[in-house]
Parts: sequence; structure tokens; C-alpha cells
Amino acid sequence: MPAGIRLCDLSELAEGPLGFDPFNEGQDSVLVILRDGNVYAYTDVCPHYGNTTLPWKKNAYLNNRGNRIVCAAHGALFTIENGLCVSGPCKGESLTPVPVIIENNTVWLVTSRAGENEL
Ligand code: FES
Repeated sequence: MPAGIRLCDLSELAEGPLGFDPFNEGQDSVLVILRDGNVYAYTDVCPHYGNTTLPWKKNAYLNNRGNRIVCAAHGALFTIENGLCVSGPCKGESLTPVPVIIENNTVWLVTSRAGENEL
């Protein structure tokens, strides 16, 4: 078992992005997206303003076209593949990537690795 927190089965991401509260903080703090066979994970915080979370409702992380991560507050759009804001008030800034690994079709949040700080 990896040094981390189990988030979900890989198959659960097939229907769309999911938000998780891996540290039991009372709200989702990590979003995970499966796209073209790759898994991407970011902190659920918009770089535009304060600690604003992205979705207007649970798991609503994508724009209508389904090709960008969207922040519901002011409409910033981020690429799925690298979290870069390509439109909106924080254009040029990025979501913060979160380390995840896939093992036995399970998505794990990596919480510690040698030489790195804990999340
Ligand atoms: S807080 Fe996300 S676009 Fe403003």
C-alpha cells in the first residue's frame, strides 16, 4: 500500500471529475480528473481570490464543453492537463497540482515521500 490516502477506484472517474475531502476538513480540497487515460489532481482552490473553491455544486469542476476546469466564482478557465488559467481574472496563474498515484486501479493521494514536505 502506498504512503497516502485512498481517494477512489479509477473507474469512478469515468463519469467525470470528483472532489475529495481527504483530510476531513468538511469540504472538498482536492479534485481529480481522468482525461485521455491520464489522471490529474489539483487543490480545490482558485488562484484568483482567497481560498475560493472552484465548483458551484459538488463535483461541478468542468465548463459546459467539458474541456476546461472552471471556477464558478468569476469564470476562470483552466486546462485540465496542467492547471494553467487560460481565461478569466487569473489568466497565467495555475491551480496547484497534487501528487497522486494509480496502483491496482486505485487512485491514491500521496501524502509523503522521502525528501518532500507533507501536504
Ligand atoms: S475566485 Fe475563481 S475566478 Fe475568481
